[in-house]
Amino acid sequence: MSVTAIVGAQWGDEGKGRLVDYLAQNADLVIRYQGGDNAGHTVINEYGKFALHILPSGIFNPKTVCLVGAGTVVNFNTMEKEIAEVAESGVIIKNLYVDKRAHLIMPFHCLLDGAEEASKKKGWEVGTTKRGIGPVYSDKAARVGIRAVDILHPERLKVRLEMLLPRKNRELTYFGLPEVTVDEIMELCASWREKFGDKIIDSIPLVRDAVLSGKNIVMEGQLGIMRDLDWGIYPYTTSSNPTAGGICSGAGISPKRIDNIIGIVKAYSTSVGGGPFSVELFDEDGDKLRSIGGEYGATTGRPRRCGWFDGVAAAYSCWINGFTGIAITKLDVLDSFDNLKICTGYNVNGEIIDYVPETSLQEIAEPVYEVWEGWNYDTTSVRKWEDLPEKAKAYLKRIEELTGAPIQFVSVGPERDQIIIK
Ligand code: GDP
Ligand code: IMO
Ligand code: MG
Repeated sequence: MSVTAIVGAQWGDEGKGRLVDYLAQNADLVIRYQGGDNAGHTVINEYGKFALHILPSGIFNPKTVCLVGAGTVVNFNTMEKEIAEVAESGVIIKNLYVDKRAHLIMPFHCLLDGAEEASKKKGWEVGTTKRGIGPVYSDKAARVGIRAVDILHPERLKVRLEMLLPRKNRELTYFGLPEVTVDEIMELCASWREKFGDKIIDSIPLVRDAVLSGKNIVMEGQLGIMRDLDWGIYPYTTSSNPTAGGICSGAGISPKRIDNIIGIVKAYSTSVGGGPFSVELFDEDGDKLRSIGGEYGATTGRPRRCGWFDGVAAAYSCWINGFTGIAITKLDVLDSFDNLKICTGYNVNGEIIDYVPETSLQEIAEPVYEVWEGWNYDTTSVRKWEDLPEKAKAYLKRIEELTGAPIQFVSVGPERDQIIIK
């Protein structure tokens, strides 16, 4: 029994959802520790195919308690829609909770997100999901945000809104957007209170008792390190900390209680949104990765930028996150390539560096590659490490070596059982 964290090791969309769904078969508690409905976590299991945005990916196991943690930002409208979609496939949702401290995404946060993006100079766009993430976390940091607990106390909520909305209306007016009134937000929150009031809890006793009684706990990260607010490609980042440090603040757990930190590492690279992406391919190989890998955003449908595996980013990710192991996903996508490349360094102004530099230098970094032979073999039915082609094993071992943490899982297809446990 242990606390296991699932952390995105690259630019997001590494396959975190499918790993959480897999581990949740034996989990007592799954906690989403940061982010909001900007997530698109794809899960394919006996109930069907889902792109989860705010529901933890443990939701399919009726015995698993799913907690949307204190470090998250919650749009109850999205949650309502998602619960309905999941329930339609026969999933019984009864163990879902939201921590009282989670901040609430209001419709005006989404409007402001879109307007702020539209106001950026060309080439400086973050390419956000327009889910209101930046604006809601800004309110949180400015200590003017509305938290889940506030909707349980209408009088308190009203005062908080009377203080917040004049400043939000100034921003909305600046962008030529319609103003909001205290009454309309009070009404919205009243409807959320009716639907979700009994799900809003103080998670301290739940998490503390689960940890102290040795329950199996899975922490689910959103996005990946390269878009972490502090360690990612700022300002082209999200507004929370997907990195392992974010688990402690987001789920309310001490670092010493986390037993395993599994980095989810895609066997190549993808990124969606703005900012530098040194290994990006603009050729046939990039198109082939996108089409075989189905690399289109689970939340926005945008085509993902694709590139070869970036060993520099992986090593940096392992250093900052302290991975105890890695899960390499989407190996099968590489099955039909004659040659593969792995980035082992960045050339920055003629100097080869082996760490991810600050954004302005990433913008000029040129990847240094080594070439690997492809295996030209369909791995999608392989279920044992020994049965993988030697060339595939060599490629995976090189990823393991560059990343610096042992391989624990390799996935060879999107379905729950298309996984090799090492
Ligand atoms: P997440 O945000 O980290 O949960 O990842 P996404 O769900 O956004 O993106 C991963 C995509 O790859 C989804 O479409 C998954 O169904 C798919 N996927 C996950 N693992 C594998 C795999 O091993 N092979 C293939 N071919 N697809 C996979
Ligand atoms: P999962 O959890 C990939 C990207 C956006 C944008 C930047 C900031 O599925 O891995 P935001 O809406 O958070 O303000 O956008 O981060 N982004 C993601 N990219 N996967 C995600 O989530 C993402 N969530 C946000 O494209 O560049
Ligand atoms: Mg995703």
